[in-house]
Formats: sequence, structure tokens, C-alpha cells
Amino acid sequence: MAEPLVRATLDGREIAVARGTTILEAARGVGVEIPTLCHVEGLEPASSCFLCCVQIEGRRQLSPACAMPVAEGMVIVSDSADVRASRRTALELLLSDHAGDCVAPCAARCPADLDIPDFLHPLAAGGLGDAMDVLWRRLPLAGSLGRICPRLCESHCRRSHHDEGLAIGQLHRWVADRNARATRPREPRPGAPTGFSVGIVGAGPAGLSAALFLLQHGHAATLYDAHSRPGGMLRYGIPAYRLPREALDAEIDVVRRLGAEFRLGARWGEDFSLAQLRARHDAVFLAIGAQRSRSLDCEGAALALDALTLLAGVARGETPDLGRQAIVVGGGNTAMDAARSAVRLGAEVRVVYRRTEREMPCLLEEVRDAREEGVEIDFLVAPERLARGPGGGLELVCRRTALGEPDASGRRQPLPVPGSETAYRCDTVVAATGQRVATRLPESEGLAVTARGIAADPRTLATNLPGVFAGGDAVLGADLAVRAVAAGRLAATAIDQYVRGAAVVGLDGQVDSAFEPLDETELAELFRGIERASRAATPRLAAQTRVRSFAEVDGGLSAEAALREARRCLSCGCSAAAGCGVRRYATEYQADPTRFAGVRRRLARDESHPEVSYEPGKCILCDACVRIARQASEELGVALVGRGFQVAMGVPFGGPLADGLRRAAERCAAACPTGALSLRRERACDLAGCGGSRLVTLGS
Ligand SMILES: Cc1cc2nc3c(=O)[nH]c(=O)nc-3n(C[C@H](O)[C@H](O)[C@H](O)COP(=O)(O)OP(=O)(O)OC[C@H]3O[C@@H](n4cnc5c(N)ncnc54)[C@H](O)[C@@H]3O)c2cc1C
Ligand code: SF4
Ligand code: SF4
Ligand code: SF4
Ligand code: FES
Repeated sequence: MAEPLVRATLDGREIAVARGTTILEAARGVGVEIPTLCHVEGLEPASSCFLCCVQIEGRRQLSPACAMPVAEGMVIVSDSADVRASRRTALELLLSDHAGDCVAPCAARCPADLDIPDFLHPLAAGGLGDAMDVLWRRLPLAGSLGRICPRLCESHCRRSHHDEGLAIGQLHRWVADRNARATRPREPRPGAPTGFSVGIVGAGPAGLSAALFLLQHGHAATLYDAHSRPGGMLRYGIPAYRLPREALDAEIDVVRRLGAEFRLGARWGEDFSLAQLRARHDAVFLAIGAQRSRSLDCEGAALALDALTLLAGVARGETPDLGRQAIVVGGGNTAMDAARSAVRLGAEVRVVYRRTEREMPCLLEEVRDAREEGVEIDFLVAPERLARGPGGGLELVCRRTALGEPDASGRRQPLPVPGSETAYRCDTVVAATGQRVATRLPESEGLAVTARGIAADPRTLATNLPGVFAGGDAVLGADLAVRAVAAGRLAATAIDQYVRGAAVVGLDGQVDSAFEPLDETELAELFRGIERASRAATPRLAAQTRVRSFAEVDGGLSAEAALREARRCLSCGCSAAAGCGVRRYATEYQADPTRFAGVRRRLARDESHPEVSYEPGKCILCDACVRIARQASEELGVALVGRGFQVAMGVPFGGPLADGLRRAAERCAAACPTGALSLRRERACDLAGCGGSRLVTLGS
């Protein structure tokens, strides 16, 4: 005779299960998801992680669902504020001494969230197409960005502790350029049409990136831009010797081919209003950038030529006559671009900057290049007044400055030194003292603004007007192209959620573990057996040649150098991050990895096993591998060995892992809830057929 079923209540619903059924099994049977880490289907419970805890009426303590059988009349609550708090604490304790980087340190610094090791791994094996696919997922305009991005990632490359950081920007430039020239280039595909349409104001990097992702979602995208050609500051600001127009055009053509409509020469505020766009489209993305130049803060400022006017003129093919001597005021990218363009227009150029070289908000290599091209730079000098000189030229009177306390930007404030006036004679003064967002127009259309630009929620880029989103320089003030590209992707996600009527929450944020800085011993362990190899260099035009034209200065990597450089990548970050239970649940329960942070474990890696890698610092002592090895009747097997803080999974009597896990290694890696035991990368590639082990090359 069949045994009578046990009846209980789970989350207010009646359940009836066979005697001995655990709460976890019962919950799964009726589709209730209870999180687990140490549980392995078919094995006796270890009850070590406590993530599966549930509330049982009448009990003061929470109970582990994986180990607790359902009893007659039990009232079980699988999700409550107490349960969630307890799960969060369990995760925070597990993360408190975790020695693992979910994301490689380089990738953690890329504002566009490019998964750099994922991009470099196929590239190192010659898989150009797969590398390009990774770029398309996060980094539209990868060729342009490879030329102009300040490469926030590279200074954090692990290899910089060993030899030199990888040339990541050059590598994505090389892949994107090769792809653009290929007979069968990899390109994104438009999504199935949704019938929704989005109006984008501004066809700079933010607007172009938004269009590229919106079209992949299946929405129509129309870009409105006041200029006659798309590209924003990449075309009308950054000179061609840094970013050749063919490279930019090739990347914009992909957006066009994907289905974007361009309405060029159409200015918001003159040719159309925001109200009209809102009536015409289901959503609007404002990506108007920071177009307004700040004028010189001195008497006679109107006599100066503003740097954006100069650069935009040159971009249109004009060759303005700046006379024999030009002075550029400023110390940022715009100042360096204006100075180096002025040299190419035939002027002798001097830059005056009110702080020192250390405070210059441009790349140091820009300063080096400008100097090589003959630009003189005077530091700690600020304009006092500008006037017409006796012979028709200009006289710029400046005062010396001394640096005081840091200001709002964190940089030391330049203070005028009394009685230190110097007069410069010149033919042209170029003002390159910064750009700002023109906020009067947005305000007049009912948009809230901040001191920097249009006000937008940083998580979703939503403005105060329903269906209107804003991003890039228009929100941040004059900033970086890579952040504009990132804003475009975020806007496309949020707009997709909005038009579909879903909750507008933006992109999924992950809780990540990061364990920098590494000490000397850990670095030595990390680089054990890795030969030193210097960073790939690129050919550059000699200074005397480059000042004669706007030809690109940096020749980029050769194919051979690119492959060699990609092979220097150590594939940092955790290979198990995508499937890691601790990371997934830490995100779901909003655990704070730093809440109990104390002494973390040390970086260590055991690569002695032919199938799996073992990183003890990531082991959460869940016992799963121990039980699996036992079930597989491994002769030696593995155990949790050591005491207190030093406990870790290991082979009894200190034997090699290959002896402990002869049969069950792959099963253990599959069950390991973190990246402590993971398949060796080559093995994972063989099983999954990933790009790294296939040699995929693009046509031509
Ligand atoms: C000289 C210079 C050098 C730079 N160098 C670098 C560098 O080396 N590295 C780097 O990362 N960044 C650099 N930047 C910054 C970078 O170019 C910007 O951060 C980036 O272009 C911002 O992108 P965006 O799409 O937000 O805006 P933009 O690129 O400014 O594009 C905005 C677009 O909106 C259009 N628009 C504006 N108002 C209207 C309107 N009313 N109606 C219709 N259209 C309108 C404009 O015509 C423009 O095409 C530089 C900027 C300048 C000016
Ligand atoms: S876009 Fe910039 S920060 Fe991101 S990977 Fe490229 S060079 Fe690095
Ligand atoms: S070695 Fe590769 S993965 Fe590691 S930090 Fe450098 S570029 Fe990133
Ligand atoms: S190595 Fe073993 S004990 Fe450690 S987390 Fe992985 S499965 Fe659990
Ligand atoms: S205690 Fe139940 S899954 Fe870990």
C-alpha cells in the first residue's frame, strides 16, 4: 500500500509530497525557486552555505531547505524580508575573503564595459570574426575609439606589473579596420521590426551608438543633426591626423546599412521642436553634445578665434589663414588639436596654460606630439587682456599664476601673481578653454537641466519628460567619446524597455568581486613561467613629415604585431564568472562584497591537473566536489583540509589534484558553484566550440 502523502503549506499554497521529500525538492516540484550553492542533485546535503534558508512557522531560526524534510502541517515561507536578509548576509560572508576578480581589471575600467579578455582570446587564436562580434556587442565605433580613446583600461592591465600593459586600443582599432576592409565583414543585424520609432537628436558617438543598438532591437531610428555630415565631434572636432575620415565614415556606414535614417542639416530649435519629435516618434534621445565654446575670461575676448570654429572649418576642408604666429589658450584635448592643426596651417604656435603640465586634461602623448611638431608651451600663464597691436596684429597680455588649493575639479586653482604681466605679440589667438552644453533650448522645451547639461537619471538616462532620454556630452558636459558610446547603448536599452511598456530599469548591473591590489608574492605567483615581452609598437610619421599634411600620424599595428600582442593577454578575470552562483545571487540579493571585508585569501592557482584549474581563494568550502569524488569512488578523492582560516579543498596527504580527481574532475568543475574548480580554458573551448579554438578569418 502506498504511504500517505505529507501535507504542508508553501508560500500560502497547499502541497502534498512523499515522506522524506526535502523542502527544496517540494518547492522545485511546484515551480518555486529557492537559491542554492552547496546543494548537488542526488547527493546527501552538506548544508554549508545556508543560501537555501526558509522560514518555518513556529521556529525561531531559519532552516536549510536542502536538508529539511517537509513535515505534516508545516507552514513554509520561502521568501520574506528576514529570509532575504539572511541570504544576503550569507553571501556577504562568502565574499568577505574571496580572492577572485569576476571581471578582468582592464575591463572593469572600460566605460563601455568591453569584455576585453573575451575580445582578445579569439583574436589570439586568429579568430578575427569572433573578436569583432565581441566588439559589436559593446563598442560601436571600435576603430575610431581605438585611435582616440585615452585608454582608461590599459593602465590597469595586469601585465603592467610584469612588463608593459597591453595595447588594447590599438588592438580594437586593428580588428575594426580589418573588418571594415573585409569582403564579408561581420556586422550587426537589424532586429525583427517592432513598429516603434525613435527620434535621435545628434549624430555624434552617443546618437550613432544608440541608433545601432535600437535597430538591433527592431526599432526604427531617425538621426537629426544640424551638421551636413554625421559624426559629431569625431568629425568636426578631432582632426584627421588623429582620426582619418575614411575610418570614421566606414563605421558610420554600418549604422546606415543597418537601417538608420539620417536627416542632416536639421537643427532642433530652428527646423523642428522637441514637441514635434515627441509627436512623430515613440521616444526621443537627445545627444546634442557640448557644442558651446567658453570664451576667454579676459578683456577683449571677442578678438579671439574659438577653437571649435577653427577645427570645424578645417574638418570641412577650409584652410584659414592664421598668420605667422598663433597663440592657443588652454590645456585640454581641444587646445592640443587646435595647436597641432595651426602648425599644419603654417603658423608658429605657442600654447599658454594657466596650470602646470601635470594638470593638463589631455593625454601626455598629445603634449609630446605637439612639442615634436614645434609647438611651444608656456605653463602657469593666464590671459589678462587681448587687444589689437600697433601693426594690425594682436597683443595678448598675460599674468603669471601660482597654484593654490584644489578647486571643484580637484585640480589646484591658478592664482594670479601680482605685477607679473607679459605681453605676447601674434596674428591669431585661439581660445580653447572648454566647451559647455547649450542648455537654454532644452530648458525652453520643459527639460530640467543641471550645472553640466540636461538632467537625466544616470541608471536609465530618462529625463523629466516622459519618453525623452538624454546622454553623452549633452548630460555629462564635455567628456569622452567612449562614455558617449556607452550612453548610447544604455539609452537604447532603456528606450526599448520604455516603448515595450516594461519597467525602465536600464542595464543589468552585476555585483562583482575584485581583489586588487596584489602583493609582490601574489604577482610573482601570477607571472610564474610567463616570459617578459614588450608591448607592440606602431609606426608613426616623423614630425617633419606630419606637419605638412593632415595624414594620420599613427600607422596602427601590423597583422603580425596584432596577433603577437593579443597573445600577451593573460585572460584575467574569472572564466566561470558567467555561471558563478555566488555572483548571480550576490546580484539578485544586492549583497555588498565589502560589508565584512577583512583579510582576504591569497591568490593561488593550481594548474597541475590536465582537465581542471583550481583556485583555492575562490573556494567557498561547499563540499560539493568532496561528495562527488566520494560518489565516483575516487581512490584518494578530495577533502576540506586545514584549520580555521586556512581550510581549503585539497587532496588528502597533500597529493597532486590529478591523483585526487582521476574520474570526477569535470563533474566537480560543473558542480562547483564558483570559479574555484573550473575547466581549463582549452578544455572549455573544446567542449563549447568557442572561437578561441577555431581559426576563423575574415574574407580578404
Ligand atoms: C577638439 C576635441 C578633441 C577631442 N578629443 C577627444 C579624444 O581624444 N578622446 C575622446 O575620447 N574624446 C575626445 N573629445 C570629446 C569627444 O569628442 C566627445 O566626448 C564626444 O564626441 C561626445 O559625443 P556626443 O555624441 O555626446 O556629442 P557630439 O560628438 O558633440 O555630437 C553631438 C551632435 O549633436 C548635433 N547637435 C547639437 N545641437 C544640435 C541641435 N540643436 N540640433 C541638431 N543637432 C544638434 C551636433 O551637430 C553633433 O553632431 C574631443 C572633443 C573635442 C571638441
Ligand atoms: S574603449 Fe577605451 S577604455 Fe574601452 S577598451 Fe577601448 S581603449 Fe580601453
Ligand atoms: S592581461 Fe589581458 S585580461 Fe589581463 S588585464 Fe591585461 S588585457 Fe586585461
Ligand atoms: S572547490 Fe569544491 S568545495 Fe570549493 S567551492 Fe568548488 S566545489 Fe565547493
Ligand atoms: S545549505 Fe542548502 S544549498 Fe547550501
